[in-house]
Amino acid sequence: LEQQARQEREERLIDQAQANKELIRNLAHEIKNPLGGIRGAAQLLQMELESRELIEYTQVIIHEADRLQSLVDRLLAPHRRPHVVGDVNIHEVCERVRSLILAEFPKGLRVVRDYDASIPEFRGDREQLIQAVLNIAHNAAQALAERIAAGDAQIVFKTRVGRQVTFGKQRYRLALELHVIDNGPGVPDSIKDRIFFPLVSGRDGGSGLGLTLAQTFVQQHHGLIECESVPGYTDFKLLIPLP
Ligand SMILES: Nc1ncnc2c1ncn2[C@@H]1O[C@H](COP(=O)(O)OP(=O)(O)OP(=O)(O)O)[C@@H](O)[C@H]1O
Ligand SMILES: [Mg+2]
Repeated sequence: LEQQARQEREERLIDQAQANKELIRNLAHEIKNPLGGIRGAAQLLQMELESRELIEYTQVIIHEADRLQSLVDRLLAPHRRPHVVGDVNIHEVCERVRSLILAEFPKGLRVVRDYDASIPEFRGDREQLIQAVLNIAHNAAQALAERIAAGDAQIVFKTRVGRQVTFGKQRYRLALELHVIDNGPGVPDSIKDRIFFPLVSGRDGGSGLGLTLAQTFVQQHHGLIECESVPGYTDFKLLIPLP
């Protein structure tokens, strides 16, 4: 029963992600053109204006149009760059993310590696996977702010090989499991079942795109990201089929 419930949950995740992707792409395209028009018109208007006070208004329009433009660009970004396939070593991906995170949070945060060295390389897009894992680890580090200040924050990168794993609608003989585990406060209950949706954020100033992008990238590898979270223990599990 539990397995069936899990499977249904995963299928729902995949369908949702597909629907999200379509919606985002269409919406972003629909916003782009009128936005260019609005910005251009505000610029023309600004050139005709003499009053400083009125120019401030046109500047607000231009500034906000630019902000929206960059949001739209980020929404469209994952669909722009082609999927570049090569041999991927997951531990190289983890090491790269680890050094990026430690560079940003040099004090008060420990990043522990618990690697299964027997994991084979697989075909995939290394840069996309780095971005996916980075987005997850970055969220963890941000959620850990209080513990970083106290000096006992921890993120664990744990890799394992799963055998006969079922996710999505398929069963795989071998699958890579990468866990990114943190000892922070946990995902807020109010957004727990929506964190992979675009624009859902529990953070001040968060744009709510990090996990949507991560899920898109992992799904391009026929994989899936799942999350389990209680206060003090949050585990983002990345599953990717192995050859
Ligand atoms: N490890 C974690 N611990 C606690 N909360 C988390 C964790 N990871 C994600 N979250 C919650 O999920 C929300 C969505 O994450 P997501 O990365 O999609 O967006 P964001 O971090 O808010 O913005 P962005 O990544 O686009 O800058 C976060 O705002 C946060 O509330
Ligand atoms: Mg984020």
